Amino acid sequence: MLIVLFREIVYRTFVVALCGLVIIVTVKAESVAAESATFELSSDCPRGFELVAGNKCELRTLYQFYSSTQNRGVGGTHTALPPHRDGFSPQQIDLGRLLFFDPILSGNQKVSCASCHQPKRGFSDGRAFSVGANGSLSNRSAPTLWNTAFLSSFFWDARANSLEEQLVGPLFSPNEMANLPQQLIESLEKNKDYPALFAAAFPKQQLSLNSVYTALAAFQTSLISLNSRYDEYAHGNHDALNEQEIAGFNVFRSFVARCAECHTPPLFTNNQVAVIGTPEPSGRGLDIGAEKIFGSEKLKGAFKVPSLRNIAETAPYMHSGGFDNLRDVAEFYTKGRGHAVPEGVKMQIHWHIWEPNLQGHELDSLAAFMRTLSDSKFTPEVPHVLPSGLPLVHDEALQEN
Ligand code: HEC
Ligand code: HEC
Repeated sequence: MLIVLFREIVYRTFVVALCGLVIIVTVKAESVAAESATFELSSDCPRGFELVAGNKCELRTLYQFYSSTQNRGVGGTHTALPPHRDGFSPQQIDLGRLLFFDPILSGNQKVSCASCHQPKRGFSDGRAFSVGANGSLSNRSAPTLWNTAFLSSFFWDARANSLEEQLVGPLFSPNEMANLPQQLIESLEKNKDYPALFAAAFPKQQLSLNSVYTALAAFQTSLISLNSRYDEYAHGNHDALNEQEIAGFNVFRSFVARCAECHTPPLFTNNQVAVIGTPEPSGRGLDIGAEKIFGSEKLKGAFKVPSLRNIAETAPYMHSGGFDNLRDVAEFYTKGRGHAVPEGVKMQIHWHIWEPNLQGHELDSLAAFMRTLSDSKFTPEVPHVLPSGLPLVHDEALQEN
């Protein structure tokens, strides 16, 4: 009996030791892989794009067969998309992907773009206010980055006119990545891989802020989400939506609810700013939005009409995350014009915001419809190892929540 027990103990110890050895060997092998990883930029365009002459990636979508947004009515399914940006090379897009996930872009090397724009959360971060490099909160919530290729202005208050101009915000703002231009370029130049990667993506250009901006813009414009169940329905497959969702779409584009006047298909934004009078969370002062940018009192409380693509993944909603779910957002629109505007504040609420008196089941169907706009099939691959050798940080950000 004792001998059997003894043999069992010896055997188990042996197995445990062997497992330990295997683990050590694998961990070692992985760290060696990380140290010696060589980076080569992809020469293929991301999904949804075709490589054309001049090594450029061009967008391909069924919506390009629909001719115009004019005279089709705002809720039509066969309306064309607004103009978009494409024509970047596969290498520029792929370099942008590495930069996007790499905390080397931040002052303390601990925050990446993906910290606040996480692929698993519709490229947002699940918070009303994002947390930046120094633990400080940003003033507004992080918008999705899906379909930024089609936007003509950036930030909630439309203060930037291009993706390149927008980038100065996060990179150098003390509330976000808190870097300095000189330091950013130096850390990339000193890195063992980035200089060669930049040379491959920009053969005729020095490594500069401009090339960083172009690569990041190239990557962001490759985030295309136009293959949701709604899109299948729009292209003619009636069965792609159920009855409640179709009813919701009809409420959405009706002249009673008027959602489609601003959230115009197929992008579900008209690329304009509008005053709708959303509430601020308690304890926060009024955010005057676009009034500050354009110096016009008419725009007090005006914000960019957000696209509703992948909206099911980007709660909480609105510029200051005031609503946790889509039904509450739908209900906001039926509670009365300007009902959440603080007393004594004059706001010129947009004329399409009125009192549609929607019933409970209509609010449910609106929420159900908005959930059909989800599509993240073209989510780019998250790099396992970064040229900087720094750990990926956006997963930590996920765990904190
Ligand atoms: C600390 C969190 C944080 C980090 C890091 C961050 N962002 Fe953002 N991002 C935000 C917030 C918050 C906004 C909205 C700010 C506003 O509207 O005033 C925003 C807005 C944007 C927008 C505008 C989108 C739109 O629809 O108008 C783009 C594009 C963007 N970020 C890209 C990036 C890129 C690229 C990086 C990395 C270089 C980055 N962000 C890093 C939080 C962050
Ligand atoms: C007059 C234009 C206008 C109309 C009409 C309109 N919206 Fe909006 N919508 C906006 C603006 C502007 C915002 C952002 C406001 C803010 O952040 O304070 C917004 C935000 C939203 C959001 C949150 C998006 C996000 O990313 O956080 C949802 C969801 C939404 N609207 C759904 C609807 C529905 C459903 C209807 C119809 C019942 C509707 N909207 C009608 C302009 C409009």
